[in-house]
Amino acid sequence: MSTKTEMDTRQTGRELSRIVYSQKDIQDRVAAMAEEITEAYSPDDNLLVLGLLKGSFIFLADLVRQIQHPLQVDFLVASSYGNATKSSGHVNLLYDPEASVEGRSVILVEDIIDSGTTMNRLIPLLEGRGPRSLEVCALLHKRVATLDREPRWIGFDAPLEFLVGYGLDYGEDFRHLPFIGSL
Ligand code: IMP
Ligand code: MG
Repeated sequence: MSTKTEMDTRQTGRELSRIVYSQKDIQDRVAAMAEEITEAYSPDDNLLVLGLLKGSFIFLADLVRQIQHPLQVDFLVASSYGNATKSSGHVNLLYDPEASVEGRSVILVEDIIDSGTTMNRLIPLLEGRGPRSLEVCALLHKRVATLDREPRWIGFDAPLEFLVGYGLDYGEDFRHLPFIGSL
């Protein structure tokens, strides 16, 4: 299968400043993460992989297809309020998973951790539902956040740039790009 190393402006709609992670970089890293996750659990762990929408949808789809255990998938929709440049510290759940979290081995899948507000709010909320274990798997981590709990699995330490593609958006655009670029 061919992998994208070049930007096609027919797809992006505009020139991005650079490709930060190529399709191949991402494929290799996601495969390695799935292998680590497979090793960390056993088949009877009752795994629940919870994706935080919308940003995690492509990452989660690639990841779960390579985890070699029985598992279930569900999603959360969180929305943070406040102005666009500064997080208000409030995170609301707009969609709550139907799957019960109690007694399950839960992996929360996030696209990118920036200020950490989303994670710091969601972890206690999910912990309160009595999972057997709760771990975070984030594709990207900007390493600027003070997190109550660090993710167990991180794809890449991300540069402090605004990234788009592979699920990440800018004004809802660019989520469909097979690579991750900088605006
Ligand atoms: P946090 O709550 O500040 O950690 O923000 C996490 C959320 O902000 C992510 O789930 C993304 O939706 C969004 N976000 C943060 N940084 C970026 C970026 O560089 N590109 C696209 N979205 C981002
Ligand atoms: Mg997001």
